[in-house]
Amino acid sequence: MPSFIPPTPLYCCPVCNDPLFLQATGKSYACSQRHSFDLAKEGYLNLLPVQFKHSKEPGDNKAMMTARRQFLEAGFYEPMAKAVAMMIDVVQSQQPTLSLLDLGCGEGYYNRKIANYCKSSEQLVLQGIDIAKFAIAAAAKKQPETQFVVGSCNRLPYPNKSFDMVLRIFAPSDDQELQRVLKSNGHLLTVTPGPRHLWQLKEFIYSEVKAHAEESSAPLGFDRLTTQRISYKISPDAQQRAALLQMTPFAWHANAETQLALNNTEQLDIETDFVLTLWRLS
Ligand SMILES: C[S@@+](CC[C@H](N)C(=O)[O-])C[C@H]1O[C@@H](n2cnc3c(N)ncnc32)[C@H](O)[C@@H]1O
Ligand SMILES: [Zn+2]
Repeated sequence: MPSFIPPTPLYCCPVCNDPLFLQATGKSYACSQRHSFDLAKEGYLNLLPVQFKHSKEPGDNKAMMTARRQFLEAGFYEPMAKAVAMMIDVVQSQQPTLSLLDLGCGEGYYNRKIANYCKSSEQLVLQGIDIAKFAIAAAAKKQPETQFVVGSCNRLPYPNKSFDMVLRIFAPSDDQELQRVLKSNGHLLTVTPGPRHLWQLKEFIYSEVKAHAEESSAPLGFDRLTTQRISYKISPDAQQRAALLQMTPFAWHANAETQLALNNTEQLDIETDFVLTLWRLS
């Protein structure tokens, strides 16, 4: 049994912004104005009321989520996940008890890896948020001890200064919301595509491949502490290549002919190129 008991997570009501409290039944959260939100059977909380949804199914759809899980579970991005865990270890070496939010967490792959690979994971209080309900349900099912929430990064349902650290892997964010939910001197860890990321896959799709910028622009109000670039080659099979394509934004540009050519290629070595940057709130 771990000796450390994580504090009860605190949320803000997405309708009126008042604090939300767990009700005596243990099955729902409610604010003083009686806006109430039930915990789903998987244990997650949906804090994205319909009036804040811009579409019926915002974020990644079920097919994209399934493709992402299939590709990630095959281990192709595991070296990057390990590097993320090592950066969290560095922050934790100065501050052992750490509340960490995975922003745009998708189906929770990195949350699971962090729980496995971080040296002091029992002192990490992990939370995840994503706008896609399917993804959050899948994440919560696999990792019931982590509190997952359906919500938007543009209007995070957490009080000011809730987290010691925010992790953002290939996901959108709002700089002011990041500043607001982080504690003083809080850390932000971003993973963004490096110039050569998935180069050979892109060559299939675009007549002229453009490299990503080498450095991601600094989020407003943060100072860069360190940057690490990780690149290596992967050789997914045809089915895994199709899954990879489906989880990327350039899937929209791949017509049936391109997809067939990608499927019929015997072997394709694809470069990965990740930029991990650790920032601190100024
Ligand atoms: C490229 S995926 C990355 C998912 C995960 N971090 C990973 O690397 O496996 C981007 C994620 O951001 C989510 N997303 C998009 N818009 C969002 C928003 N406004 N608020 C929260 N999440 C959002 C999507 O649903 C999707 O799961
Ligand atoms: Zn309310």
